[in-house]
Amino acid sequence: MAGNRTFSMIKPDAVAEGNIGAILKMMEEAGFRIVAMKKTQLSKATAGKFYEVHKERPFYNDLTDYMSSGPIVALILEKDNAVADFRKLIGATNPADAEEGTIRKLYAKSIEANAVHGSDADETAQQEGSFFFAETERS
Ligand code: CMP
Repeated sequence: MAGNRTFSMIKPDAVAEGNIGAILKMMEEAGFRIVAMKKTQLSKATAGKFYEVHKERPFYNDLTDYMSSGPIVALILEKDNAVADFRKLIGATNPADAEEGTIRKLYAKSIEANAVHGSDADETAQQEGSFFFAETERS
């Protein structure tokens, strides 16, 4: 039976450093199936829309500048318990707090340039996946 899904982005810092392959390998080795994947560059406006929930936060402007500064890789991933298991695999938002062996511990540079994004709930995973992929690309 198919598992459930989460949405991820490999962020500009990790793409620029040549870490796409290593990060995808960690995802696959942890049991995630890649349902959909694309490399693209966000405009500042599109990054702003994606992170709209953080609009009032002090880091919003820097975050959207950063997320539009270079290409990203957007992914829909499938596995049982996908959202929670993926958050475990990537580690804490701030790499200083991330556990050994997590993607952020290995590849993140800072709380902003933190290598990867992972959805925080099933509903957000659905919304975020639909933001990047047409229905025909995620079936
Ligand atoms: P992400 O999981 O993509 O969701 C929001 C992002 O905002 C987060 O990862 C961080 O990269 C970024 N961010 C920058 N500063 C902060 C902060 N002080 N607290 C939380 N997130 C932050």
